[in-house]
Amino acid sequence: MAQDDILDEQTEPSEQPEQLEHTDERETILQVEQLEKAYTIPGGQLQVLHDVNFTVQQGEFVAITGQSGSGKTTLLALLGALDTPDSGEIRLHNQAVHKLRGVAAADFRREQVGFVFQLFYLLPNLTALENVMAPLLPYRRKLNFDLKQRAKELLEQVGLAKRMGHAPARLSGGEQQRVAIARALINRPNVLLADEPTGTLDPRTAVEVLDVLPGLQRAGSQTLIMVTHDPQVAALADRCIHLEHLSKVGE
Ligand SMILES: Nc1ncnc2c1ncn2[C@@H]1O[C@H](COP(=O)(O)OP(=O)(O)OP(=O)(O)O)[C@@H](O)[C@H]1O
Ligand SMILES: [Mg+2]
Repeated sequence: MAQDDILDEQTEPSEQPEQLEHTDERETILQVEQLEKAYTIPGGQLQVLHDVNFTVQQGEFVAITGQSGSGKTTLLALLGALDTPDSGEIRLHNQAVHKLRGVAAADFRREQVGFVFQLFYLLPNLTALENVMAPLLPYRRKLNFDLKQRAKELLEQVGLAKRMGHAPARLSGGEQQRVAIARALINRPNVLLADEPTGTLDPRTAVEVLDVLPGLQRAGSQTLIMVTHDPQVAALADRCIHLEHLSKVGE
């Protein structure tokens, strides 16, 4: 069965239908067509994504749900040019993401995408401020803005004005994830890709993170694509895309 037959694109019932109409008028920023991805494993090929099709509008907050192993992380990696599909197309702003390799893929990630992972991957020997600056530090002299100033503003926006000089070990899990979110936004990306950003956090700390993430995305009119297991998190999104588990090993 084609995955798009079971790819369940739902529009959440909205209390503000006028906002939904506005969403529909927005520009399509991301187009995914007939995406296929399999991994070679002992004994054959593990088909993870099959005939995946969807579009995302500029500024939308889309949740990607699906059980463990359904290919959510695989899909984010393809959208962010961290990996390449076997076939199919991914277009972001009409750029053919599926064709990007090497330096072109790295440039695309730096210019267009912000990543937030479940494990925060902060550099332990740097302060919060230095971690937020880190992705653009090698390009500092070529930037048309003050990197340190922008990093400070982002940390203020995620509520960490008083923690800028702290190393990750001196921050709570929720604070570390908020530093990681600020870091993901340092390049003002068109698309923010978040893979279970609250997955390792207790529910109260998760709320701290979820309070800042969609707000920042709306403020910067970024498009947010967030993988989540949590129905309460998915309910915050404008729309859910549900991936079914294919659990199929082919030759
Ligand atoms: N590099 C790889 N080589 C082989 N198999 C892989 C590889 N990466 C992922 N897989 C397999 O592909 C399937 C999908 O993995 P993926 O990480 O995308 O799932 P997921 O939906 O993100 O799961 P989870 O909710 O547990 O994070 C899994 O069965 C996984 O074991
Ligand atoms: Mg995953």
